[in-house]
Amino acid sequence: MKNSFVVLLVIVFLLNLNAKADEGMWLPSLVGKLNIQKMNSLGCKLTAEQIYSINHSSLKDAVVALDRGSCTAEMISADGLLLTNHHCGFGEIQEHSSVAHDYLTDGFWAMKREDELSNPGKTVTFLIRMEDVTDQVLKNVTEAMDEKTRFAKVREAGAKIEKEAKGETGYETRVRSLFESNKFYLFVTETFNDIRLVGAPPQSIGKFGGETDNWMWPRHTGDFSMFRVYCAPDGKPATYSKDNVPYHPKNFLPISLKGVEKNSFAMVMGYPGTTTRYRTSTEVKYMMDIVNEVRITAREAKLNIIKDFMATSQKSRIQYASKFARSSNYYKYSIGQNKGLTALNVIGKKQDIEKEFLKWANETPERKAKYGSALDSIQAAYKTSDEKIAFQYAREALLSGAEIFAFASESSSLYESLKGNDKVKIEGDAEELRRSIGEYFKDYDANTDQKVAGALLRLYAAKVNPRYIPGFFQEIDRKYKGNFDAYAKKLFEKTIFADQGKMESFLKKPSQKVLDKDMAFIAMRSIFQTLSTIQHDVSKTTAGLDRARRLFVAGLNEMNKDKSVYPDANSTMRLTYGIVDGYVPHDAAYYDYFTTLKGYSEKGIKGDVDFDFPQKLIDMYNAKDFGQYADKDGTLHTCFTSNNDITGGNSGSPVINGDGELIGIAFDGNWEAMSGDVAFEPDLQKCINVDIRFVLWTIDKFAGASHLIDEMKLIR
Ligand code: ARG
Repeated sequence: MKNSFVVLLVIVFLLNLNAKADEGMWLPSLVGKLNIQKMNSLGCKLTAEQIYSINHSSLKDAVVALDRGSCTAEMISADGLLLTNHHCGFGEIQEHSSVAHDYLTDGFWAMKREDELSNPGKTVTFLIRMEDVTDQVLKNVTEAMDEKTRFAKVREAGAKIEKEAKGETGYETRVRSLFESNKFYLFVTETFNDIRLVGAPPQSIGKFGGETDNWMWPRHTGDFSMFRVYCAPDGKPATYSKDNVPYHPKNFLPISLKGVEKNSFAMVMGYPGTTTRYRTSTEVKYMMDIVNEVRITAREAKLNIIKDFMATSQKSRIQYASKFARSSNYYKYSIGQNKGLTALNVIGKKQDIEKEFLKWANETPERKAKYGSALDSIQAAYKTSDEKIAFQYAREALLSGAEIFAFASESSSLYESLKGNDKVKIEGDAEELRRSIGEYFKDYDANTDQKVAGALLRLYAAKVNPRYIPGFFQEIDRKYKGNFDAYAKKLFEKTIFADQGKMESFLKKPSQKVLDKDMAFIAMRSIFQTLSTIQHDVSKTTAGLDRARRLFVAGLNEMNKDKSVYPDANSTMRLTYGIVDGYVPHDAAYYDYFTTLKGYSEKGIKGDVDFDFPQKLIDMYNAKDFGQYADKDGTLHTCFTSNNDITGGNSGSPVINGDGELIGIAFDGNWEAMSGDVAFEPDLQKCINVDIRFVLWTIDKFAGASHLIDEMKLIR
């Protein structure tokens, strides 16, 4: 009795110690200094040098930014095989799909290398090295300098560093600011652009649960797809050519079949896009009341129209699949973020930090002089809101509302060439458009876009201060009695931009007169004029913001100088470490840390948009046909959660165990902690990962693409 009580106490103590990992998206080059001890105590057996090194190949060489950081991916074979999320390859899978080859529904597997599909525009970027260059960048900067001069000095020093680091190499070099321009790092990278699609499961696996399950746990999604990096025969980056060869990366990840347990060490390396952990209560309120509100309102109107269209045929579903998923993802994110920010009282927590900061800042005259007014200046920047509301609505309802205006704007350069009557430039611009319009119209439905245009112009007019209403709205009032649908109908009848045939004949013989008279082109120009008024007003009201933010963060870090701190995410490589664990989502409930194929079969609904399933998968589940991918409990684990600190951009990131082996792919965050980008929630925030054994089972047993498994290095 007594003994077991002691054991229990020890267990409780250990659990508590383990339960909270440090929050943080750490710079890999600083792991040796800031994190490795804690990581080792949690079960990581690697040295800092094995994670990030500029002298030997290390884990960082196997982790890449996909499409400049919209997602992350990892190298998993010596022949350039790369793993990422299904939703990170979704655009390409959709693009290659047609009613005859519906890779969204059926999946796609290149059974030989020649069948791998090329994807112009897709990129993979390797990090060569990163380096703190703060001292060099700030060498000619003084405290007294005004913000504009400071910015110019910083830019000038940065450009010099970039140029020197680049030298004769084919690398890209970029100096990026961290901690709101208090620190600067140089990033040296190499980018490959012949990236071919190797495989993707049907979306009934890769996107199982669809919008219903998106941003939520428990999850049963096999969210993965595979590409291969190709290069010139000399190993250098090259655009697509049939003579290109598979790239041999400096490093690739071995894959563990051992599975994960509660409290297993787990770390994630990747390219988190944006967090705003240093923003103040005022700015959080702005995010909630304006950014998120506008996004939710505008996208709801648009998504409803698209959803109706997608339900009409297989063709329409394929056409709009990617557009819908993209818009819907951050629509739901914003709803969840507002809920989370309110429920977790993030504004209150921020106000407490601000109070503490003010107290600290007022303790000495030096601090007071330097930091005393930072918070007031931030507040002042948010005193007025009309121009900010207009800015957000212009983005959501005009620029990315109906597609027609953004598409018309692509002819702006041609228009200028026509005005200048420059024959060579005219032909060049026209040729570029000719090349791109086929792809655009493949996934375009003019009738749907017309409905979106009517609805979103109406919304814009209803929500935005008259000062920011584009000129052509007057015509809608006058000629169409304020009937936006009638206006949109006329516009779509008349314009050349809604019809591939009209567009092609225009491009055969481009003329300025046609554009001058085109209703969509006129509207687009009027929108851009308004946009410049809005931008002018926004920059006027927020003129002091950069400086104030920089000082606030500098002060906070000075105040917390004994703590390790990490910079906000900005699409540069980061590492986050923690453990595998479940959580308490709400009163009286506990969510376990893993799901199995049983849960998949329980959720499946034949023919449903989100929960449809392949019969073959259910048959294999019933036959318990899991092969070497079964867990030691005999089931097939599908997904698991860890307490790693990730955000958008981390999608596709490798989840790595204490031995440096791949155990999963990160693909989402959880609904209860959607406020996590603003304030990390240690008890609630989870990283949702697909179990690597589910991925391999799908490739090997379900799809029969075992030649790909043969390329990998499996650890049993
Ligand atoms: N929420 C995921 C992320 O941002 C994206 C999931 C995509 N799936 C979807 N149903 N739209 O990383």
